[in-house]
Amino acid sequence: MAGPVDNYAVMGNPIDHSKSPVIHTLFANQTGQSLRYTAILVDIDGLQKAIDAFFENGDLGLSITVPFKEEAWQLAEKRTSRAEKAGAVNTLWQDEHGQLRGDNTDGLGLVADLKENNGITIKGARVLILGAGGAVRGVLEPILSEQPVDVVIANRTRSKADTLVDLFPDETLSASGFEDIEGRFDLIINGTAASLQGEMPPIPGHVIDQKTCCYDMMYGAEETVFNRWCREQGAGKTIDGLGMLVEQAAEQFAIWRGVRPETREVLGLLRNEIA
Ligand code: ATR
Repeated sequence: MAGPVDNYAVMGNPIDHSKSPVIHTLFANQTGQSLRYTAILVDIDGLQKAIDAFFENGDLGLSITVPFKEEAWQLAEKRTSRAEKAGAVNTLWQDEHGQLRGDNTDGLGLVADLKENNGITIKGARVLILGAGGAVRGVLEPILSEQPVDVVIANRTRSKADTLVDLFPDETLSASGFEDIEGRFDLIINGTAASLQGEMPPIPGHVIDQKTCCYDMMYGAEETVFNRWCREQGAGKTIDGLGMLVEQAAEQFAIWRGVRPETREVLGLLRNEIA
């Protein structure tokens, strides 16, 4: 007779449009793992209660999404070093001592999508990152560990870019406002929330040439405003964040289940689904 089901879930608010249940269910089918993965809508002030209830029930692992990643960081009793630096946690599980462990797989997901799915070399590249909020902080460490030659963080509020540079002592890292960005870049990553409002961060066109790869951490059925603008400036390649979503989920699956799924097929299925 089959034993109790291994339960996993994503917690967020809102959660209706989360693709995580589909992604993890496809991973489970592909790897022959028996588990159930659901989406849980959590009250804005109810994260701790929801997490406690989940693990007290014997359930195994959680994905944490907007707007709870920073709070999950605080609630985790033990964090990986990359989560420590990210200041945000998107993956929770309990270890054999009942301790709540936290990791952040967003940056690994971004790097995997760039390198494995799109053949982009970050080592030695000049990288421009737009935005200085939680999303950017979450991916900085894995980007820097790829050894780019230069990383400029440009933000609407310049002081927040300065604060981020202070948090990551790395000589390749510098801060800028949008208007005063200098030179061209090999890779430009949009980590601002501007796409959500259908807006484009006002950056100068000279940052892009035909060799530039532009990456929007957002995705949607339509091309994002950022990617369209980059394409119109003559960027060599534009990529949206769907691959990052699938890759960060694959890292979570590997943490929980000890096996890393193949992502290509799952990404293809999702691409068809959102189209
Ligand atoms: P997240 O967790 O998604 O990073 P956040 O911490 O609130 O959310 O950060 C949002 C980021 O998007 C910030 O860098 C913000 O710029 P400010 O620091 O100047 O607020 C940026 N952002 C949001 N809307 C924007 C817009 N319309 N144009 C440019 N940048 C925008």
